[in-house]
Amino acid sequence: MKKAIILALSCFAIFTNCDQTVENASTNTYAEEPHSFAQPNDAVITHLNLDIDVNFDTQVITGTATYDITNNGAKEIILDAKYLDISEATADGKKTTFILGEMDEQLGQPLTIAITESTKKIAITYKTTDKTEALQWLNAQQTADKKHPFLFTQGQAILTRTWIPIQDSPQIRITYNATVKVPKDLMAVMSAENPKAKTADGVYNFKMVQPIPAYLMALAIGDIEYKAISQRTGVYAEKSMVDKVHYEFSDMEKMVLAAENLYGAYDWEQFDVIVLPPSFPFGGMENPRLTFATPTVIAGDKSLTSLIAHELAHSWSGNLVTNATWNDFWLNEGFTVYFEIRIMEALYGKERANMLALIGRQDLEEELEALSDAPNDTKLKLDLKGRNPDDGMNSIAYDKGYLFLRTLEEKVGREKMDAFLKSYFKENAFSTTNTEDFITYLNDNLLEKNSISFNTEEWIYEPGVPANAAIIESDAFSNAEKVLHSFMDTNTINAEATKDWTTLQWVHFVRNISEDITVAQLQQLDDTFNFTASTNSYISMVWFEQAILNGYHGNQVDAKISEFLNTVGRRWYVTTLFKAFKKADRLDEASAIYKTARQNYHSVTTNTIDDLLGSNE
Ligand code: BES
Ligand code: ZN
Repeated sequence: MKKAIILALSCFAIFTNCDQTVENASTNTYAEEPHSFAQPNDAVITHLNLDIDVNFDTQVITGTATYDITNNGAKEIILDAKYLDISEATADGKKTTFILGEMDEQLGQPLTIAITESTKKIAITYKTTDKTEALQWLNAQQTADKKHPFLFTQGQAILTRTWIPIQDSPQIRITYNATVKVPKDLMAVMSAENPKAKTADGVYNFKMVQPIPAYLMALAIGDIEYKAISQRTGVYAEKSMVDKVHYEFSDMEKMVLAAENLYGAYDWEQFDVIVLPPSFPFGGMENPRLTFATPTVIAGDKSLTSLIAHELAHSWSGNLVTNATWNDFWLNEGFTVYFEIRIMEALYGKERANMLALIGRQDLEEELEALSDAPNDTKLKLDLKGRNPDDGMNSIAYDKGYLFLRTLEEKVGREKMDAFLKSYFKENAFSTTNTEDFITYLNDNLLEKNSISFNTEEWIYEPGVPANAAIIESDAFSNAEKVLHSFMDTNTINAEATKDWTTLQWVHFVRNISEDITVAQLQQLDDTFNFTASTNSYISMVWFEQAILNGYHGNQVDAKISEFLNTVGRRWYVTTLFKAFKKADRLDEASAIYKTARQNYHSVTTNTIDDLLGSNE
């Protein structure tokens, strides 16, 4: 598989005719893909020219997607499309026939376009519809500045096909150009080379010269500004946020340097972050050159910036070396969490790194517990055929993936681990890997070479956590546990011991409050530490969870919870709180909140919460 992709790449680079790729495509270079209708071994897209007009009044994107293709003698090319209104297709400029196949609720429809053996370009004219799941159209009230509407896309895992007809498989990489027309008072940015200021006519031209998989296609449009941090890093945000965001992320260049120092040069030239309105369904999304981020990490004290380290790390694990299918998702996320924590260690020391690792360790235990009826879902390598890839996107890939790599690091030593990872990224750059290829690479380049034995297969193919898992310790967390336990035993709070605590210690303290805490004790904690009034979204979230689970209603916490859920659409936060309502048998309150909050959420979040609450309003 790799060889063909490298040939295809050098062929993009020198823009010669691509006979070599054609020759290679005939040798079945792409593996079976459970979440795309594309048949890339027959005919595959290599470059996209996207020309779209974005209409905020009708909330419709209209335009044409033109692809360069490599045709291995096929009479048709199949793309993925979902809830798109396709009006015309052409092959080398001439009108051709197309068929939209049967709709699959998860995957959408195969879009089959008639071509000839010599077809080099196809073009599809289309419109998005009101069902388009990738897009969230926001009115002015849903933004920070409340003056202009906003639009953003979310492609991962299989949503790009809902705003662009495309071969939506992580194995297929394309370069792209785009022309995007937007209202004049707004600016458009993409996962590409970006403008730093608005244009006079609302027309923006983009270029992405590094080949990327479809799930990394991204677009955001709003009244935003740019502020540079260094020559190659900077932030986009709405006016009222941009200075705060700039301060919060001011260590970004240092993060890029630390990352390069670990695993090799940053290959995407620019690393910027756009802070989106609070409905953005993720903490962050690693769109190349331009990470999309939630405003909930803007805490004022840089305490939640590991998110930036995480998305930056994806520039290697995920964007440069991509999981071949969503069954191999742990290769994207487990490596990224490992890398994130190494970057955080390089910048802020071992203690902070271990706190992050231990938070993940506890998340993992909770996930294992939650999945006790579905042990197969606790394997790193998944089998998601017939399921929505979202089903596999939980803490297992992230935190078990991390623990595997950390355990491996402790076994082989950091020096060998780093040399191995550096060569792994270099060797597989701009390509995909699957779990089996990774295991072979690991055996050849790290384990057998050094005569080290390791239970890799058990980690990857068995449920649960193997017995040799690394033990992670943090004095800062032990300290937080001590204060908590002594409070539970004596009802007196050693506030003095907490005076230098960092955000992660507070998070650890709050989330480890035991089930037998009384409402009076919660009130005492709240009166001492002002948790209900916290301005740190992570602390608020874990505190609200405790309040919901334990029936605490003091200091107007219920109003705060309702306000939080009506503003923030970050799926992890929202899900945690709605799950707590469910567990505490308070579904009526949850439904009442969801009734108004739902309209503020992106489809990724409503899908999860509709399922959780069993509603479909
Ligand atoms: N790539 C993910 C987000 C994602 C995963 C989107 C699966 C769609 C499907 C991103 O890098 C991520 O992991 N975000 C986390 C951040 C965290 C682990 C620091 C999030 O959103 O919370
Ligand atoms: Zn990630």
